[in-house]
Amino acid sequence: MSLEWWQSATIYQIYPRSFQDSNGDGIGDLEGIRSRLAYLKDLGVQAIWLSPFYKSPMRDFGYDVADYCEVDPIFGTLQDFDRLLADAHAMGLKVIVDLVPNHTSSDHPWFLESRESRQSPKRDWYVWRDPKSTRNPPNNWTSFFGGLAWTLDKKTGQYWLHQFLPEQPDLNFRNPQVVEAILDVMRFWLKRGVDGFRVDVLWLLVEDAAFRDEPPNPDWDGRWDRGSTLHIYMEDQPETHLIVRKMRQVLDQFSAPGKERIMVGEIYLPNKQLMRYYGTPEAPGCHLPFNFRPIFDGLSNWTADNLREIVEEYERDLPAWGWPNWVLGNHDQHRLATRIGPEQARVAAMMLFTLRGTPTWYYGDEIGMLDGVIPPEKIQDPDVLRQRHLPERGRDPERTPMLWDASSYAGFSAVEPWLPVNADYPERNVEFQEKDPQSMLNLVKTLLRLRQEPDLLSGAYQTFRSPSGVFAYRRGERFVVMLNFSHEHRSVSVSGELVLSTHLDRNRRMVQVVDLRPHEGVILRQ
Ligand code: GLC
Repeated sequence: MSLEWWQSATIYQIYPRSFQDSNGDGIGDLEGIRSRLAYLKDLGVQAIWLSPFYKSPMRDFGYDVADYCEVDPIFGTLQDFDRLLADAHAMGLKVIVDLVPNHTSSDHPWFLESRESRQSPKRDWYVWRDPKSTRNPPNNWTSFFGGLAWTLDKKTGQYWLHQFLPEQPDLNFRNPQVVEAILDVMRFWLKRGVDGFRVDVLWLLVEDAAFRDEPPNPDWDGRWDRGSTLHIYMEDQPETHLIVRKMRQVLDQFSAPGKERIMVGEIYLPNKQLMRYYGTPEAPGCHLPFNFRPIFDGLSNWTADNLREIVEEYERDLPAWGWPNWVLGNHDQHRLATRIGPEQARVAAMMLFTLRGTPTWYYGDEIGMLDGVIPPEKIQDPDVLRQRHLPERGRDPERTPMLWDASSYAGFSAVEPWLPVNADYPERNVEFQEKDPQSMLNLVKTLLRLRQEPDLLSGAYQTFRSPSGVFAYRRGERFVVMLNFSHEHRSVSVSGELVLSTHLDRNRRMVQVVDLRPHEGVILRQ
C-alpha cells in the first residue's frame, strides 16, 4: 500500500510562544523555531504544525487574529516565515499552519467596520442579533470562556456572538463573502508553500439559523457555564460540512500526487459525528479530523481495557476511506506525563507510535515534560482568568517553555520567559536526555525510527487476548505490541525477536514468552 506523506508522517505541534526565543524578549519566535529544525529532523518527525503566529493583540495568545496574512512582530516577519518554510522543506519537513476561521480578533478591520453601524457593508460578516427583549440577550447560548456568548454593542443596540472571549467575535459562515474571504486566506498561505492547515474549532463554524435556545443539560454540575446546556444549535450544524467541502476543494486545487495539501480539523465530537468530517469518497472533507478520544476518555481512565475499547471503537467507526489518527496532547490539555505519570507516559508513546494512523505529538512530551506550576500572579490564560473558580481549566501549565539544556531559563531565552520555566529543568532537558541512553527522548527517537517499518505504517491492526492489565495487538504480518498498563509483572506467551522495550534495557533476542515488567511496553518482530 503506498501512502501519502501525511499518512506516514508524525506531526509535531509547536506552540511558537514557548519553543525557542531568538531575540531576547522572553517569547518564542519563528527564527527560534528555524534554529531548532535540526533537532526535529533528528527526533524523527516528518511534519510540524505551528499554532498561530499571525498579527494579534494576543488576548487568546494568537487565537484572536487581527490580520490573517501578516506575522505578528512578536514572532517575526513574513520573510522569517518564508525562510523557516524553505529550510524545513530543504530538510524534508512539511509545515502545517493554524487556520482560525470561526472568529477574528475584535481588532480585525472586518469587525471594526462591521460594528460601525447596522448598515455597514460588513455588518453581516459577523453574527449580530437584536436583544430578545429590553435588556435580554438574544438567547441562552454560552461561551467556552464563561458567561453568555453575547455582548451588547451599545452604539448599534445589537449583540454580537462570541463562543470564546468577547474580543473574539464569531464570523458569520452563512454569508458567502465570509466563506470566500477565508478561502482566500488559505490560498495566500498555500501560494507561499504551506503543506496544510490545522483548522481551529471546525465544528463550531455554523450556528442554527433560527437561534433557538439550547436545551438544558440534565447532568450539569453547576460549575462551567458552557456545560449548563446541550449544544445542538451552536455546534456541528449540517451546513458546516458544505464549508469543509469548499476548503477541501481549495486544498485539492493546490495538490499533486505525493504533494497533497491537507486539512487537519480540531473537532471535539463523539465518533459518529466526528467521522462525517471525512466526507465521502466522491466529496472528501478533512484528511484528518483529530481523534481526541485518547486524551479525554483515555487519559482520565488509563487502563488496558479502556484503551483497547477506545481503539477498537475507533477502528470500527472509521469509514473505509478514512485514515486514522491519534492525539495524546496539545496546548489546551494538561501534559501527558502529569496525567498518567512518567512511567506510563513511555507506554503511551509506544502505543501512539504503533497504532494504525497518523500520530500528533506535542512539543516537550518527548522529554516527559510535566505541567508547570504557575503562581496566581503569573497566570496568563484568559480562560481561567475569567473563570477563577475553575483552576483546572488553566492552560498555562502545558504551555511553559521548552527545556533545552541546564543553562539559565533552560536555553529557551536569555531573559525571563513569559511563563515560568519548569523547576525540574536542570535534569529534565533535551541535552541531558540525549546523553542518557534510557531517557524518554531516546525512547521516542527509537520509536519514530522503528515506525518507518511498512508493517507499522500501514499493516492491519488486530488485538489479541492478553492477561488483565495488558493491551496487546498485532500490526501487519510481523509486529506484535504488548503494553503493560499495570504496576505488576505479566507474562504473555508469544514468540519472536524482542526488538524494543520502553525501558530501553533489553538486548535484541529471540523469546518464547514475554515477561513484561511493571509499566513496560514491548515490541516483537516475528
Ligand atoms: C481552540 C484552540 C484554543 C483556543 C480556542 C479559541 O480550541 O485550540 O487554544 O483558545 O480554539 O480559538
